[in-house]
Order: sequence, then structure tokens, then C-alpha cells
Amino acid sequence: MANGTAVVILAAGAGTRMRSKTPKVLHTIAGRTLLGHALHAAAGTRPDHLVVVVGHDRDRVSAAALGTADELDHAILVAVQAEQRGTGDAVQAGLGALPDDFAGTVVVTAADVPLLDTTTLQELLDTHTDGAGAAVTVLTTAVADPTGYGRVLRTQDGQVTQIVEQKDATPEQLAITEINSGVYAFDHVHLVSALAQLRPDNSQGELYLTDVIGIARAAGQLVRGDHVDDEMLVAGCNDRIQLSQLGREMNRRIVEGHQLAGVTVIDPESTYIDVDVEIAQDVTIEPGSHLRGATVIAEDAVIGPDTTLVDTEVGAGATVLRSEVHLSAIRENATVGPFSYLRPNTDLGPRGKIGAFAETKNAQIGAGSKIPHLSYIGDATVGEGSNIGCATVTVNYDGVNKHRTVIGDHARIGSDTMLIAPVEVGDGAYTGAGTVIKRDVPPGALAVSAADQRNIEDWVLHKRPGTSSADAAQQAIARIDEQ
Ligand code: UD1
Ligand code: CA
Repeated sequence: MANGTAVVILAAGAGTRMRSKTPKVLHTIAGRTLLGHALHAAAGTRPDHLVVVVGHDRDRVSAAALGTADELDHAILVAVQAEQRGTGDAVQAGLGALPDDFAGTVVVTAADVPLLDTTTLQELLDTHTDGAGAAVTVLTTAVADPTGYGRVLRTQDGQVTQIVEQKDATPEQLAITEINSGVYAFDHVHLVSALAQLRPDNSQGELYLTDVIGIARAAGQLVRGDHVDDEMLVAGCNDRIQLSQLGREMNRRIVEGHQLAGVTVIDPESTYIDVDVEIAQDVTIEPGSHLRGATVIAEDAVIGPDTTLVDTEVGAGATVLRSEVHLSAIRENATVGPFSYLRPNTDLGPRGKIGAFAETKNAQIGAGSKIPHLSYIGDATVGEGSNIGCATVTVNYDGVNKHRTVIGDHARIGSDTMLIAPVEVGDGAYTGAGTVIKRDVPPGALAVSAADQRNIEDWVLHKRPGTSSADAAQQAIARIDEQ
């Protein structure tokens, strides 16, 4: 396989500056880990082999890497770098995961460069393999402040000769603003031979992958620099400040992508959209909205302001106003909010309504049914065209177990009905206001349980004398007596 391709993603470093018990590459932006972003970009080039080099926290990092194989639809190989002896040593470890007869191009990248995309990696691969016969092609960019990066040294006619690390550079070299992104394409044969020649004779005592470039040049090989203008594509994440900056930038790019595809986003700065969210044309996203996870929104829906949707499906023309929704479905032309909380497994049917201050959970609500205000509907099935009066509660929990409430089609549940589950209200049945339902209500019946009202005359005057209530009552009674 002379023209095989492999991508090696370096993820063995400690990530000390994150100051976290979570490995750096498992921190997330836009709903995906840094490692996940790197894997998605790499898998997009459909390499023959995709290798992740792990070291620090190797159990967690390798489990996370292997766990993405399904969504990537690509096999992942894990290589262990036992000790972090430098990037050259890490690549050496990564090559160990490739089959013995591998030949072709090895792309090396890092797991903490989340904005690097498939397009850029593919361009690097295409440049490297365009027939010029380069041993190495290194992705470079120009930055205003190159502190900390390896500097790219070039000849007068632009050929890359060497990369010098910050800690090993002369003052003149430190003034160079073209930097090594840490992303490269290597010819496998040359890479193997150059790695064998690395020595830790530098200020950090490490085996520098960057020395492969000087070694290739010294052997008369061609080294090319592939310059990208957009420095964010190759920006790394070392601390939580950069994590937020990269997150903001990725969000900006995601929002712009949706805008260009026909989504109205009123205020991109206050709108957060995870990378996997799908939004159809002519959806409107109002300010302060957070669209997370596997959320899917159909056309003409209006989301927000101030709404969070997590793993939620919203149908065409539906509206969700100032509400929080998790793992639920809101079908076409349904309305939710303001100020409601839909917990997992709520399914609100077409044209249905969950209005203000309602909470639902594990509830299937049929087409056109309404829960307009102040209710809790949990572990329940509601048929079509039913109305649930204000302040209705499905009393689903007996302190030990949860029970279901079933309400039929076209039922009318009176305000402040308590439905003590398990219980069933038939099609077309009514319940009176303030009813406590303990037994099933047959279709078409009216259920009432409140006792007849009794007024105990002058109770306040006798039992609460001297209070403002008693004073007010006394004055009112006097006025009635005068008439
Ligand atoms: C490296 C480059 C530098 C470049 C910069 C870009 C070298 C010697 N220098 O520097 O020219 O400008 O990246 O960000 O390569 N890693 C391992 N095992 C190790 C050491 C590192 O897997 O033993 C991994 C890290 O987890 C990280 C990547 O390699 O993902 C880069 O390592 P890091 O220590 O950050 O390299 P820099 O010093 O930043
Ligand atoms: Ca780094």
C-alpha cells in the first residue's frame, strides 16, 4: 500500500495549565470534547488508519477516543506513549500502531487544536502529495504574538529549513512571527528514519518532532511549508482562557454557518449552538438561546428568547418561549412557554400547548391538547383535544413508586384537579374544579369530590378579634346593615 494514509493525533500530554482533574483533551466546547473535534476533523479525510497517542490519564482518554468510533464510522487505534519524552517520541509510539507494511503519508496533529477542520487537513494532504516529493509538509501560520511556539526558518526562496523552539531560539529567531502549528504531513519512510536520529540535546531534554525537519533538509530532502491565513484553525488550547476563546470562536463559526443556510439568528453573541445541532431554513432563534446536544429544529419554528433546548426535537412552525426543554419532542405548530420546564420524554403533539409555569416529565400529550398554566404533568398520557385546567397535578409518586395517569381524548380537567395515580379519565370526561381523583372516571362522566361549601358566619370576628381582617369585616358588615 504505497500511498496509504494515516493520521496520528497526539494526546499524551499532561495539560497541566488547565488545572483540572479532567484530562485537557476531554474538556468540551460546542458540545464536543477537544479530542472529539480532532477526531472528527481527522476522520473526515477518511484515512486508512486513525491513531490516538495516549499517555497521561490514558484510561479515560483512550476510552473516550474509542467511544467515538461509532459516530465517526471509523476505526480508531490507540497507542500508548509510556513516558512523555517529547512530541518525536509520541509520534514514534503512534507509528507502532500501524501495520508493518504501511507505506505512504502520515499526518500528525494534536488533540488540543479544536478548530482544525477536515478541509484544512485535506488541503495539507493534497499539497504534500501533489508530486513534488516532499519528505515533510508543515502547516504554518503567522501570529501577532509567537511566544511559546516553534519558529519556522526559511531560505531566501521560501523553503523551510528548520523549526526552532522558543526555549532554544536566538533573539533574531524569536522575532520571526511565522510559527509551527504542530500539524504536519510526513512521508512514512523519511519519518521513520528521521525519528531514529532524534536526540534530546535541547533545553527541554525532549525528543522534538520538529527536529525531523532539520534532519530531512540535511539529508537533501524537500521540506515544504503550507501557510494558513486563518490562525484560529490551528490555535491550541492550553488553559481555561483559551478554552473559552476557542469556544466563542467555534460558536461564532457554527452560528454563521446556520445563518448562511437560512436561519435567522437575532443576536449571535448571546446564542450558543452545539456542533451537532440541526436547524432547518427559516427558523428564528431569539437572543439568549442555548441549543445543545442532538437538538433538531424544523422549518419556521421560533426559539427563544432565553430558551435552552437539550437533545430536543422541535417540529415545523412550533414556538418555544423562555423555557427549558430536555430530551423531548415538540411537534409541529405546538407552543411552549413562557417559563415552562419540559423534562425528559415529554412528547407534545401537533398544535398542542404547554403554557406558562408548567412542568412535564415522561408525558405523551396528544394533538391539540392544552396545559395552559401552572400544572405538573408527569408519567402521564393525555389524548387529543383535551384541556388540562390551571394548577392540575398528576400525583404520580406514592413515596416509593411512580404511577401513570391516563387521560382520554377531549377530556376537560377542571382547575386544581389532583389526579392520584394510577388513575384513568375516559374520553370526553370532565372533572370539577378542586376535585381529587382517586378512582377511574368513565367516558363522559363528571367527577366531583369537593364537599359542599359551608360558611361559618362571623368566625373571624370571634376567633381573630382585633386583627385587620376582623376590622375590615366589621366595617363591611356595618355597611350591609345600613342598607
Ligand atoms: C509543539 C511544537 C512547536 C509548535 C507547537 C504548536 C515540538 C517540539 N514543538 O510545541 O514547534 O509550535 O507544538 O502547538 O513539537 N505530546 C505528547 N507526548 C509528549 C509531548 C507532547 O503526546 O511527550 C502531545 C501533547 O499532548 C500535545 C502535543 O503533543 O497534544 C504538543 O505538545 P506540547 O508539549 O504542547 O508542544 P509545544 O511545546 O506546545
Ligand atoms: Ca502546546
